[in-house]
Amino acid sequence: MTQTYAKIIGTGSFVPNEPITNDMLVERLAKNGIETSDQWIQERTGICQRYWANEGQTASSMGEIAARNAMEMAGISADEIDLVVVATSTGDMLFPSTACLLQSKIGAKKAAAFDVQAACSGFIYALTTANAMIQSGQVKTALVVGAEVISRLLDWNDRTTCVLFGDGAGAVILRASDEPGVLSCRIHSDGDLSHILHSKGVIYNGAIKGEPFIGMDGQAVFKNAVTLLGDVALEVLEDAQLPVEKLDWFIPHQANIRIIQAAAKRLNVPVEKVIVSVNEHGNTSAASVPLALDKAVRDGRIQRGQTMLLQGVGGGFTWGAALIQY
Ligand SMILES: CC(C)(COP(=O)(O)OP(=O)(O)OC[C@H]1O[C@@H](n2cnc3c(N)ncnc32)[C@H](O)[C@@H]1OP(=O)(O)O)[C@@H](O)C(=O)NCCC(=O)NCCS
Repeated sequence: MTQTYAKIIGTGSFVPNEPITNDMLVERLAKNGIETSDQWIQERTGICQRYWANEGQTASSMGEIAARNAMEMAGISADEIDLVVVATSTGDMLFPSTACLLQSKIGAKKAAAFDVQAACSGFIYALTTANAMIQSGQVKTALVVGAEVISRLLDWNDRTTCVLFGDGAGAVILRASDEPGVLSCRIHSDGDLSHILHSKGVIYNGAIKGEPFIGMDGQAVFKNAVTLLGDVALEVLEDAQLPVEKLDWFIPHQANIRIIQAAAKRLNVPVEKVIVSVNEHGNTSAASVPLALDKAVRDGRIQRGQTMLLQGVGGGFTWGAALIQY
């Protein structure tokens, strides 16, 4: 019996408005008496700019544009989509899910739609879920989106977090195929590390209770991210029996250039094979991997038949990897 794979047949992305450079951010924070600099941000994170949504822009509105771009590349219409999975921690509403709102926006009437919340690993979790549903024969065509307005969770008085994040959306269309596509996926969590990265606000009696801003132990996140990304990469490479030298592209979560470089070094992946967009987008949480992927597909770096390793890591703690033949 031939194996069914989930194959990427289209990618898309969207970032809102004009870029906010480090210098623009420095100026804005100075008004609050908060000191930072372009040099500090670039040296410690690799980030040069990021994008922020307007009040009227949401995860579903940005996700819609990314999804339409991916559908256009795939050459499919909305009624061919059986499943919409949106990875987000900053959805439009508590419910309905952002995936349902997006389903309505694109008119994917036949689809089942739900959200996945795994913070910055969300896209890998969503992809893993859609892959399993395609492999089991439950669905044929899936839209997987990572979309975030993470700027809404930023505390402008906390320079250790507010310089890091940006907004955006990325999407892929997966379709059942006999040809190799997703070769191996692994996802993991460790709730014992929930204290190192969180946003603790809750709705209670109709009001926000607690602290909805991002709280982070930067150094603990850094160390765990490098170790766990290395471990899960080896897991999927071994599962697919692919030697690391055969890997064409490495697309890790775009949080910090130093995490990306350390993860690549641990794996022995040369810098030329690493796709980087953190300089341009900042950390867009669940949107970061599909944003970087779409950029490299559209600029012609990623070619059909090549292998790529996608990786997420973030709050939960959560992490995961997907090894894919494009
Ligand atoms: C946040 C991070 C960039 C901080 O870099 P770092 O090298 O660990 O820096 P430290 O936290 O040790 O801080 C060093 C100094 O810079 C200062 N600093 C922090 N943020 C600053 C900023 N935006 N501008 C200027 N100085 C800053 C600190 O106050 C500290 O000053 P001190 O030495 O006088 O106390 C780094 O820890 C990191 O990237 N961690 C991972 C975060 C992440 O990726 N989160 C999302 C994961 S999904």
